[in-house]
Amino acid sequence: MSSLTLREHLVERWVTSLRHELLLDRLAVPIVLAPLAGGPSTPELTAAVSNAGGFGFLAAGYLAASALAERLERTRTLTGAPIGVNLFIPGTSAPPQAVDAYAARLADDARQAGVELGAARFDDDDWAAKLELLMATPVAVVSFVFGCPEPEVIDRFHDAGSEVWVTVTRPDEARRAVDAGADALVVQGAEAGGHRASFRDDPAADVIGGIGLLSLLQLVRAEADIPLVATGGIATGAAIAAVLAAGAAAAQLGTAFLRCPEAGTVAVYRQALADNAPTAMTRAFTGRLARGIRNRFLDRYSAAAPAAYPELHHLTAPLRQAGRAAGDPGLVNLWAGQTYELGHQLPAGQLVRTLAEEARAALQHAGDRLSPPAGGLGEEGGSAGPAPRSPS
Ligand SMILES: Cc1cc2nc3c(=O)[nH]c(=O)nc-3n(C[C@H](O)[C@H](O)[C@H](O)COP(=O)(O)O)c2cc1C
Repeated sequence: MSSLTLREHLVERWVTSLRHELLLDRLAVPIVLAPLAGGPSTPELTAAVSNAGGFGFLAAGYLAASALAERLERTRTLTGAPIGVNLFIPGTSAPPQAVDAYAARLADDARQAGVELGAARFDDDDWAAKLELLMATPVAVVSFVFGCPEPEVIDRFHDAGSEVWVTVTRPDEARRAVDAGADALVVQGAEAGGHRASFRDDPAADVIGGIGLLSLLQLVRAEADIPLVATGGIATGAAIAAVLAAGAAAAQLGTAFLRCPEAGTVAVYRQALADNAPTAMTRAFTGRLARGIRNRFLDRYSAAAPAAYPELHHLTAPLRQAGRAAGDPGLVNLWAGQTYELGHQLPAGQLVRTLAEEARAALQHAGDRLSPPAGGLGEEGGSAGPAPRSPS
């Protein structure tokens, strides 16, 4: 890029930033409902969070564009407040041998559950049709997971009037998203429930493990000068206060909303969320690394599951469906973040208000800790030792 082009580029960005106040600057409550694909996401949940002054996402993952259109229409009847839609960036197909070998291991479980395994097909999650739908009927924000859209796609969303948020799990992903023109980054810590948002699901990176949210926020802030939305393991107002203090513009919560009555979370999943078994990372259900509550299927198949998304998602779908229908939690993908046991069964709007109240109190408390009363320990003019006891 010549220096003139670079200058033009920077000027254009500056002018754009002056023209558009970002949605995050206008939110009454800095709490974002995470997109919750695979059942829990409903128009009712999205609308309840946006109506309470937070910001609700509708999950588009696993949905055909026509189904997404219906959900969008329904959501718009429930709220006039801004909402977002989340899209999965398509990946590449996996070697069939690895998928076949995994399918052979699952055969006994399928027989016992009385189902046939699904066809382990690759697909792009109806990517092009969903893009066209969202260009034609734009929402306030489109967020992306599993990669970064091409700069041309981001430009088209900007032209349509939508902001673009990209989910990142590492500083190098943050740099790529900023360079591509993202308006904000959803910074996902390793504590998060559901799929890890990594641009590439690389088993070689598993030994390093994921980066925890507070570390990642600091690392990404050093790389990226755009607003950050913190996500992963946030279940209390105190944790919301912590990420705001660490420089995030908002907190995105997923698991915390799974027990709300407006969520589409099925009964067997709700029961597991009310318990306290540990969580673990696994590819066993979908072929992509995700955090869920440990159960029979996760423990039995995590070691053998290859990186093959969405092939394994389709392969295991009938088994998971059978588990849900029979009330057998051992067969179901129980996605949950590390703090799931702190969740409450509250209407979503009430949960947003309660969390905001708690966060305000936590920030007040933290501020007070940094403004000790005059004469406190170590202050100039203060006493060097313990306060003298008053004579009795
Ligand atoms: C059931 C479930 C479904 C999820 N679906 C999506 C999704 O469709 N798109 C996405 O970007 N993130 C998805 N996530 C991840 C969330 O965006 C977020 O990173 C995560 O929920 C944060 O951690 P927490 O669950 O501890 O709050 C999902 C998480 C859960 C628990």
